[in-house]
Amino acid sequence: MSPVYFKEQGWRFLHDLLATEKAIILCDSNTKQCLEYLNVACPKTVDLPVIEMPAGERNKTLKICEMVWYQLTDHGADRNTVLLNVGGGVVTDLGGFVASTFMRGIRLVNIPTSLLGMVDAAIGGKTGIDFGGLKNMVGTFSQPETVLIDSNFLKTLASRHYRNGLAEVLKHAFISDSSILDLMEANEDELISRSVQVKMDVVLRDEFEAGERKKLNFGHTIGHAIESHLLDSEQAVLHGEAIAAGMIMESWLSQKIVGLSEAELNSICVAVDSVFSRIAISESDWEAIKKLLVYDKKNRDGQVQFVLIKSIGTAIIDQPVSETLLDEAWKFYLNQA
Ligand SMILES: NC(=O)c1ccc[n+]([C@@H]2O[C@H](COP(=O)([O-])OP(=O)(O)OC[C@H]3O[C@@H](n4cnc5c(N)ncnc54)[C@H](O)[C@@H]3O)[C@@H](O)[C@H]2O)c1
Ligand SMILES: [Zn+2]
Repeated sequence: MSPVYFKEQGWRFLHDLLATEKAIILCDSNTKQCLEYLNVACPKTVDLPVIEMPAGERNKTLKICEMVWYQLTDHGADRNTVLLNVGGGVVTDLGGFVASTFMRGIRLVNIPTSLLGMVDAAIGGKTGIDFGGLKNMVGTFSQPETVLIDSNFLKTLASRHYRNGLAEVLKHAFISDSSILDLMEANEDELISRSVQVKMDVVLRDEFEAGERKKLNFGHTIGHAIESHLLDSEQAVLHGEAIAAGMIMESWLSQKIVGLSEAELNSICVAVDSVFSRIAISESDWEAIKKLLVYDKKNRDGQVQFVLIKSIGTAIIDQPVSETLLDEAWKFYLNQA
C-alpha cells in the first residue's frame, strides 16, 4: 500500500522527488486552478509540463486516455517519468489507468483535490475508465507511489461536490469508526485523516477485493442502482447523494436483519439528513431501481448481496435481503423525510 502524506510532509516529499526525477502533471479544466496553490506549496512544480483533460465523468474515456498517452509521448515521458495526478476521482482514476499501462507502467503520485478524491478515489489502487456505457468497466489494480493530501485545495471545490465526498466520510464512520461522526462539524483535517485511515485499513487487509474490501460498498448496493436509474432523468443525482439514500435504506435493513439498534439507526438518519436532502423516489422509479440491483457487477450468482451494519462501526458482508424487506426499506426512506 502506498504511503499517504499530509500537507507539509507531502510537499517536502514532492520537493525531494522532483530534485532528481522528471515529472508531468495531469489535471482537468477545473483543477488547473489548483496548480496555483501546488506551485506555491511546492515551487519545484512550476516548470513541469501540464496535460489538461476536459473535466467531468463523461470524459473518463478511452479517447481521453489516448490523448494523454500521445501527450506523454510528445513530452518525452519514459519509464522513470512520474505522472502527478492533480484532480478529483476522474483525474486520479483515468490518470492512474494511463500511468499503469503507458510503457507497461510508469510512476504515479496522486494529489487529490476533491474531498471524495482525498478520502476515497485516490487511495487504494483501483484505476479505471468508463466503457460501453458502463462505469469503471476497464481498469487496473495499480497502487500510486504516494498520495499527497492537502485540504487547502478544497477551498475552490463547489459545495455540492464537497457534500458528495462527505457521503464517503459518513460511510467510513458507519462501517468502521464511529468517532468520525463527532468531527463532522469541527476539524476538517482530522476528519479527512481518520476517513483516509479507514479506507487504508480496509484496503490493506484486502487489496484485491476478496472479502473485507466489500465493506466499502455499504450504501452502494442500493445507491448505485439509484444513481444509474436517475442518470438520464431530470433528477440526476451525484454519486454521494445516491449513496446517502442507499445508506439510510441499508441501515433500516441492518436493523431488521442483523440487529442494528433503533437508536443507532436514528443517529445514522440524523447524520445523513444533516448533509443530504431526501430524494423523491416514486413507485415506478423504485421498480426500475430494483431491476438494476440484480445487474450490479459485484453480485454473484444473481443473488443480491448487501453489506449491513451490526452497530455503528461494525459491518458484515454478503447478506441476502428479500424483496419484501427491500420494499419496506424504500417506504421507510420516504416516510422518514
Ligand atoms: N478508484 C476508486 O477507488 C474510486 C473510489 C471512489 C470513486 N471513484 C471515482 O471517482 C470519480 C468521482 O470523483 P470526484 O467526485 O472527485 O469527481 P470529479 O473528479 O469529477 O470532481 C468533481 C468536480 O469538481 C472539480 N474539482 C475537483 N477538485 C476541485 C477543486 N479543488 N477546485 C475546483 N474544482 C475541483 C472537478 O473538475 C469536477 O468538475 C468517479 O469517476 C468515481 O468512479 C474511484
Ligand atoms: Zn462511493
